[in-house]
Amino acid sequence: MRSFTPLVLSLLGAAAAVSATEPADAADSNVISLTKDTFDDFVKEHDLVLAEFYAPWCGHCKALAPKYEEAATELKGKNIPLVKVDCTVEEDLCQIYDVDGYPTLKVFRGPDSHKSYGGARQTESIVSYMTKQSMPAVSSVTEENLEDFKTMDKIVIVGYVSSDDKTANKSFTSLAESQRDTYLFGASNDAALAKAEGVKQPSVVLYKDFDEKKAVYDGKLEEEAILKWVKTASTPLVGELGPETYSMYMAAGVPLAYIFAETAEEREKFAEDFRPIAEKHRGAINVVTLDAKLFGAHASNLNLEPEKFPAFAIQETTKNAKYPYDQSKKIDAKEIGKFIKNVLDGKVEPSIKSEPIPESQEGFVTVVVGRNYQEVVIDNEKDVLVEFYAPWCGHCKSLAPKYEELAALYSDAADKVVIAKIDATANDVPDSITGFPTIKLYPAGKKDEPVEYAGSRTVEDLVQFIKENGKHEVDGLPEGAKKPEERADVTVSESKAAETPAPSDKEAHDEL
Ligand SMILES: *[C@@H]1O[C@H](CO)[C@@H](O)[C@H](O)[C@H]1NC(C)=O
Repeated sequence: MRSFTPLVLSLLGAAAAVSATEPADAADSNVISLTKDTFDDFVKEHDLVLAEFYAPWCGHCKALAPKYEEAATELKGKNIPLVKVDCTVEEDLCQIYDVDGYPTLKVFRGPDSHKSYGGARQTESIVSYMTKQSMPAVSSVTEENLEDFKTMDKIVIVGYVSSDDKTANKSFTSLAESQRDTYLFGASNDAALAKAEGVKQPSVVLYKDFDEKKAVYDGKLEEEAILKWVKTASTPLVGELGPETYSMYMAAGVPLAYIFAETAEEREKFAEDFRPIAEKHRGAINVVTLDAKLFGAHASNLNLEPEKFPAFAIQETTKNAKYPYDQSKKIDAKEIGKFIKNVLDGKVEPSIKSEPIPESQEGFVTVVVGRNYQEVVIDNEKDVLVEFYAPWCGHCKSLAPKYEELAALYSDAADKVVIAKIDATANDVPDSITGFPTIKLYPAGKKDEPVEYAGSRTVEDLVQFIKENGKHEVDGLPEGAKKPEERADVTVSESKAAETPAPSDKEAHDEL
């Protein structure tokens, strides 16, 4: 794998590697193959259908196949068909539904109503997501069906609201409608049932098949407050990080603590040991164990040595700040408890991966590294243009001479404009960079609002961009200077394409 390996990618790679088994024989498959001639009728005849648009050569499609098959088998019992369309044969059909990558999964409610599938590409996620799609936003819960309802998903949420409490009903219903893809909701206005469950009306109860099994919300019934509580209550105290859970943890908005361990026994033991600490900091940090055999390579993204396990690190996901725990020390829950507290209290400096600060600058382009990024890019009154590149990226290589030429144009304005570059694979940068090259301007006085360059990679257009978006409005090619198109060494038309490590980051996020 290339040196640029965001966590997602290797999580994905490893998951794909372990699960890429041969697809089931077509004859006994529960996934229905559809064509242009059969597709419309099929989705008309079925209220709810999940469709996969694929290409036979696509690696992600092959990795999905056995999971899709398993999900189809499970969902058959619920009368939710899973279908597939081979886009190399059914080009027109795939075009109608705007398929622009493989696999594309869409949920159909008849031929005219479809939306993107929003879950992870894993058996359990597909089953859970489609089950929720098949049910109303809020199911009616009664004494008779409550126990069954509780088992319908890993997490179910029931509102106990009296029939005359319009306000509580409204916020609960509205929450359920906005979160119906993620959670299964039910409601009951039966006071006796609420009492039997040990709660007063109004309250919200989250039933889960892990930890304390049941959590009760008895705060104000406001949509936002309930959602915040739901997010915390639905996250396991010490969860397992993997393709199914990755995006949830990344989106949680709180730091993530990783425990890398190679065996299931170790992970179980650590989960046990860390539970009280996780409970203490519930809502402020999420704690997960991670299979170091599968995902160990990602320790290096957290600035840990990827061979020494078990290991521990904290990542502030919102800022991408990393706090690796000293790998010469034992992973002891009590000691690490102190470390977690110190990180949360802001008493630990984040670790920064960095090449050495260059002793001298050669050429006109300023070379930035992790350790002087703040100083060169942020802490100054200059308009700083930064190219985030990767050593292996071909577009970056072809940009290099033009970028050097661009930098030369500002050599007399070094107090106002800096043209810089950073190897984003060897240095930590605050922004998440998903394609190479990425070019951003950090204008003086507005460093927290960088402007990403989306134009063609020509000297002239970049000059214009700096003039328009920089605070100092410096013109690198003032009137009278030679126009680039008159200069033999400048190519005017250049692709806007950015290179991403295969698979693309977008795809990886979808997968997880
Ligand atoms: C909430 O209001 C809706 C619409 O008025 C009603 O159908 C539903 O039964 C109410 N839910 C509860 C739990 O009372």
